[in-house]
Amino acid sequence: MQRRHFLATSAGALLAPRAAQAADGSVTVLLNEPVGTISPLIHGHFVEHLGGVVYDGIWVGEGSKVPNVAGLRKALIDALKKIQAPLFRWPGGCFADSYNWRDGIGPRAQRPKRTNFWASNGMLAKQSGGPAKYDPNEFGTNEFMRFCQEVGGAPYIAANVRSGSPREYYEWVEYCNSPVGSTTLAAQRGTSPFNVQYWGIGNESWGCGGDFSAEEYSVEFRKFTSWVPNYGMPLRFLPAGPNGGDLKWSRGFFEALTRKSPGLINRVWGWALHYYCGTAGGPVEFNDAEYYELLTKAVRMESLITDHWTVMGEYDRNHRVKFAVDEWGAWHKAGSEVAPHHLFGQIGTMRDAMVAALTLDIFHRHADKVAMANVAQLVNCIHSLFIAHEDKFLATPNYHVFDMYKEHKGGQAVRAVFAAPSQGKLPGLDGSASLTGKRLVLTCTNSSLSAGMPVEVKLAGGTARSVAGTILHAVKPQAHNSFAEPDLIAPKALKAETSGASVRFEMPPSSVARIICELA
Ligand code: AHR
Repeated sequence: MQRRHFLATSAGALLAPRAAQAADGSVTVLLNEPVGTISPLIHGHFVEHLGGVVYDGIWVGEGSKVPNVAGLRKALIDALKKIQAPLFRWPGGCFADSYNWRDGIGPRAQRPKRTNFWASNGMLAKQSGGPAKYDPNEFGTNEFMRFCQEVGGAPYIAANVRSGSPREYYEWVEYCNSPVGSTTLAAQRGTSPFNVQYWGIGNESWGCGGDFSAEEYSVEFRKFTSWVPNYGMPLRFLPAGPNGGDLKWSRGFFEALTRKSPGLINRVWGWALHYYCGTAGGPVEFNDAEYYELLTKAVRMESLITDHWTVMGEYDRNHRVKFAVDEWGAWHKAGSEVAPHHLFGQIGTMRDAMVAALTLDIFHRHADKVAMANVAQLVNCIHSLFIAHEDKFLATPNYHVFDMYKEHKGGQAVRAVFAAPSQGKLPGLDGSASLTGKRLVLTCTNSSLSAGMPVEVKLAGGTARSVAGTILHAVKPQAHNSFAEPDLIAPKALKAETSGASVRFEMPPSSVARIICELA
């Protein structure tokens, strides 16, 4: 029996009052040990033409009774503005390698309807129609760009490598970026250039993106990235990276690319690692063991980053290439979708918020290695920040983590050492710290289901003048927001005290805390 379970099940009841149950946590923040700048793009999102993500989630149409901005769900735009959402990856995922971008331009009424990549998957197989199954292409390049512009986030487009050609791809770049008055495609675009800088070259090319070997894919990558017109703005290319711990894919790609010519490493901006965690239990029905199992799987992200980083260093000694973890999240089995076409739709609980917090903290701690990340997926899908159906809309606990953690964006990550009793490979207390000028942001998770945790933070190299705390917590990890109770789980103020050299606060079981200190 693990230590935490012992406290909970055997001795816990006898050890009341609560303070006696609590395990102490300590954090030492090394204010003078910078790790790297936390790229705001680490807090990016992913939008795929899959189930209810685009149709119902984002796109409601201009004539809809649902409040909208040019057909885009207004409540979603407003919520994303609040967290300063920095980036959106689109149009997939697996869908990207089946997408012809020309289907989604020009007058909407004349756009073709196409069978969606996911049409015969899961619940969609049983549907007779609908936009999730037969994509009307009402949401195409211009609508996606409008969405990005309304929110204020950058676009990141995934090109079709499996069923498209390099020429189609170059023309998409031309459509997006060529100057007004320059080309036929610029005229068809009908707006000022979109200046898309981030381009994914396929998606999961080891699987749904073409079943390539790493060597074969490196050839495709070269073809797609050779002599792409850039219209004065350097393009940033992201090759399809590994599935979880597949070091062979990382080694195979970089070895083949640099064998052809060492300088080709300069074509790579970000290495697109994908990793999902999950358990046999449902999104909402799970037991304590499945809670710990999911969180333990989530923190595997850290060793994935360091292991692939080591391999990348064999071919890129100066580590020019950083990670773009452009799909991550907790993927649960079906059954909690709010509408029958929301393929992979799942209710997000407090447990998922813990996964979000643990993962963002890992990215912050590796700010020198991770340049971009995209949680999968934005709305009505895996690990979503939102659930939306017709005129109903809610923010999940994941959203609140992104809201609390936004204070790290652009900050200088500094080394912090967390200590508390652990649960196997799952740290009892984990987190990240960053500095922006004299403002220290510390975020952390108490993963114990049973014990609260008094935490003492020692500030090495500085003192605090003031401190403010925020906590995200629920009565149980299965708790979630619903259309009936959309604000059941939301951040609240947390009492925190400082003596100057240290800060103290107490975290309830299974909770996420944010502490902001103004330093002297
Ligand atoms: O996010 C759902 C799917 O998971 C994506 O389309 C694919 O890239 C991954 O396998």
